[in-house]
Amino acid sequence: MAGPKKLYIKTYGCQMNVYDSERMAEVMGGAGYVATSRPEDADMILLNTCHIREKAAEKVYSELGRFRPLKEARPDLKVGVAGCVARAEGEEIMRRAGVVDLVVGPQSYHRLPEMEALVRAGKRALDTEFPARDKFEALAARPKARRGPTAFLTVQEGCDKFCAFCVVPYTRGAEVSRPGARVLAEARDLVERGVREITLLGQNVNAYHGAGEDGGDWSLARLIGALSEIDGLRRIRYTTSHPRDMQDDLIAAHGACDKLMPYLHLPVQSGSDRILKRMNRGHDAESYIRLVERIRAARPDILMSGDFIVGFPGETEADFQATLDLVGEVGYGYAYSFKYSPRPGTPAAERDQLGEEIKSERLQRLQALLTRQQRAAQDAMIGREVGVLVEKPGRFAGQMVGKSDHLHAVHVKDASLRPGDLARVEIVESGANSLAGRTIAPLS
Ligand code: 5AD
Ligand code: SF4
Repeated sequence: MAGPKKLYIKTYGCQMNVYDSERMAEVMGGAGYVATSRPEDADMILLNTCHIREKAAEKVYSELGRFRPLKEARPDLKVGVAGCVARAEGEEIMRRAGVVDLVVGPQSYHRLPEMEALVRAGKRALDTEFPARDKFEALAARPKARRGPTAFLTVQEGCDKFCAFCVVPYTRGAEVSRPGARVLAEARDLVERGVREITLLGQNVNAYHGAGEDGGDWSLARLIGALSEIDGLRRIRYTTSHPRDMQDDLIAAHGACDKLMPYLHLPVQSGSDRILKRMNRGHDAESYIRLVERIRAARPDILMSGDFIVGFPGETEADFQATLDLVGEVGYGYAYSFKYSPRPGTPAAERDQLGEEIKSERLQRLQALLTRQQRAAQDAMIGREVGVLVEKPGRFAGQMVGKSDHLHAVHVKDASLRPGDLARVEIVESGANSLAGRTIAPLS
């Protein structure tokens, strides 16, 4: 007898796609599929795609090309494209990639089982709409399987900010927040299944304003407060935030809520007021720096993380220098920096573009500075006592790996530790990409 059908999902892009892939695997579980990590074994391959920068979409097309021989050998194999490239270029994918049977946008994947039935019947299926119905409401309850100690939980999707470079408002649609009760129920369920740390996700997560359990409108700080009352949930994080939505109650929560970790991803994109204006960011460099000061006043050990774009249309050497200055002033523990990439349909794509060499040269200079800062922030942990949530065994016998409160990877030589333990650890060494520590207080 044939075993269950197998599903291979490859995920590109952000953490929200990681969460969506999990949910897609679950919904397909209901249609008789089990997950496989080998595309050669799969009955269905799904690429969960990202459209934020150019290369991501190109990678999807080349990956699809690689699946052609598999499909020729096994015509029964079904291939689907999900995520933001699906939403932005669905029709074109169908035209350009004959290998594709199914295209499903980020707001429609609750429909995957019926779409799968269609493609099994030999048809092609496309749904890239933004349906009025919330997909999370349409998805069945999550299966009860045990899980690892960390999980993502999408609480907000979409964006109304329309930064001039960004496709998100077009691919993910307008800002929508999930009701607080729904988020709490999902979080409680995750904790019952072994999760100890939840990262709340949203393209603009700090703009969260979901319906509260008490009928009012809950801010992100309010939601975090409610989540922090869940016994067994030890840590809360959230990402990604916009400087304009960093409200007072959220800043205060960083000082008041023990479970809220001292790490904040707060993209600024540029340090030049002229460029920030052209990017339609709605804030200037000074207000961002003052905001970081207020956050640090609430939680002095917070590690700041940021996103930067170099080579935005019209960026001069002086504008770029202003970005370096801002980085120097703020001091980042983590950072992600990119060359500007014109995205079809966004305002900045229509403007005069800078040359590739100048973008590469600026990116190199910025990354050199950010790498130094990142390194310094990591080295500064030596001698400090931090919490480490143990995730899995390390490469060497008796060694376990986890994440510190500040999100650094930490290796601990202590065979008594188990995944899900929260240990007090003294950092003794700072390596290339991780820290090493020793347990000073066992488990809590
Ligand atoms: N070009 C380069 N980087 C971009 N980002 C978003 N759009 C673009 C683009 N067109 C970066 C921003 C954002 C991160 C997720 O990706 O820095 O914060
Ligand atoms: Fe894109 Fe700007 Fe919205 Fe972030 S805030 S998702 S960069 S439009």
